Amino acid sequence: MTKTLIKGGTVVTAIDQMEADVLIDGGKVVALLGREHTVEADEVVDATGKLVIPGGIDVHTHMELPFGGTFAADTFETGTRAAAWGGTTTIIDFAVQTVGQSAMDGWEAWMEKARGNCAIDYGFHMITGDINDQTLKEMELLVREGVTSFKMFMAYPGVFYSDDGQIVRAMQKAAEDGATICMHAENGIAIDVFVEQALERGETDPMYHGIVRKSILEGEATHRAIKLAELTGAQLYIVHLSAQEALDEVIAARDAGLQVFAETCPQYLFLSLENLGNGFDGAKYVCSPPLRDRAAGHQDRLWRGLRTNDLQVVSTDHCPFCMGDHHTFGTQKQLGRGDFSKIPNGMPGVEPRMELLYSGGVEDGHISLNRFVEISSTTPAKMFGLYPKKGTIAVGSDADIVVFDPAATHVLSVDGHHMDVDYSAYEGWEMTGKVDTVLSKGKVIISDNAYHGSPGDGEYLARGLSQYTN
Ligand code: URP
Ligand code: ZN
Ligand code: ZN
Repeated sequence: MTKTLIKGGTVVTAIDQMEADVLIDGGKVVALLGREHTVEADEVVDATGKLVIPGGIDVHTHMELPFGGTFAADTFETGTRAAAWGGTTTIIDFAVQTVGQSAMDGWEAWMEKARGNCAIDYGFHMITGDINDQTLKEMELLVREGVTSFKMFMAYPGVFYSDDGQIVRAMQKAAEDGATICMHAENGIAIDVFVEQALERGETDPMYHGIVRKSILEGEATHRAIKLAELTGAQLYIVHLSAQEALDEVIAARDAGLQVFAETCPQYLFLSLENLGNGFDGAKYVCSPPLRDRAAGHQDRLWRGLRTNDLQVVSTDHCPFCMGDHHTFGTQKQLGRGDFSKIPNGMPGVEPRMELLYSGGVEDGHISLNRFVEISSTTPAKMFGLYPKKGTIAVGSDADIVVFDPAATHVLSVDGHHMDVDYSAYEGWEMTGKVDTVLSKGKVIISDNAYHGSPGDGEYLARGLSQYTN
């Protein structure tokens, strides 16, 4: 077993900041050493002048997701490698149960897609697209397999949608088993009326995606999900929260002492409704919930929510579809030319998350360095039953570590990114702070601007129940 020493850096966790060297043996952290030690190792990573942080954990990705008649462009191989380049060393992806399918079969199909292909460790949530008696029984089996959270959709009628009765039944089961319900909270039935009316008026451009999916309908669905969770006693985690109306509901629930949590995503912190303009180019930014109106104050409220812990996590909802601007890539977004409702929903984001949060979050004064680590790694691990194996730098933890150069500057661009998609949502954005070296279970997988890992380095993580409480 190789002994590795990360030397000379500033170790930052969710709590501490210390001048220490990190000793790794057998893929685990075995010691945090003051500078005056005499310990030697087989391999030394020079972190002088750099930050040494826990590897990022992105709890919301969709590699190869079937959506809108096509598939998300990143495979488990390309998507997890891109994640590694960006300093993320664990993902939790979403396995899918479709209508009429057994949930176990759905999970096994996703296990098969990921097996032997991942650059970093991975776990699964289960999208329960068909709640019935069999699915309820299977939820218990899935929890035993380490799938301890279930995503339900109040949006996308006819696809992933669950009605309130199905949600109640799944929440009752989750409460019984200690599992978490992850909720896509948008009132999809009401949204579809506005979609139909917009198309009848000839409003077909991507911009209308943002207009019909009104923030009040995210607030309404969030309220309903919270009330159903309160009734059933289920732990609720609102995914990809974008609107202040939804945040207000989460705050009220948390003030009432409910086990209600929420994540937001970089696209809601940094982009806005304006990105959906500019004709069909706006298709790049079509995701659900949609990007919100900056002037209405959503973004400021999200940053405040992150500071006050009303929002606990920043994930990406990485779900890339190609624009068709490059001949070696796909053309998935073109499906919605002339009808915004047919544009596959989703944006690329797994790679730049950590750098965006550092540059636009820490450097720009929205959050502290410790809070950056907490929302990108430590809380994700605790929320989804991976702590302290993942999410911190401590004796006994997996040596999933990022050496981060806070002074390096670079520009985000499709030229040079590693996601298998033909555009960057942040093209030309100047970043302060850059991922320098990435270790996954003690192995250096990124250094000197090169990838040194291989598909299959990443292992399946059977997760425990959530370890996060109010
Ligand atoms: O637009 C999105 N968010 N696409 C991925 C599927 C989902 O709803 O998370
Ligand atoms: Zn969703
Ligand atoms: Zn998603």
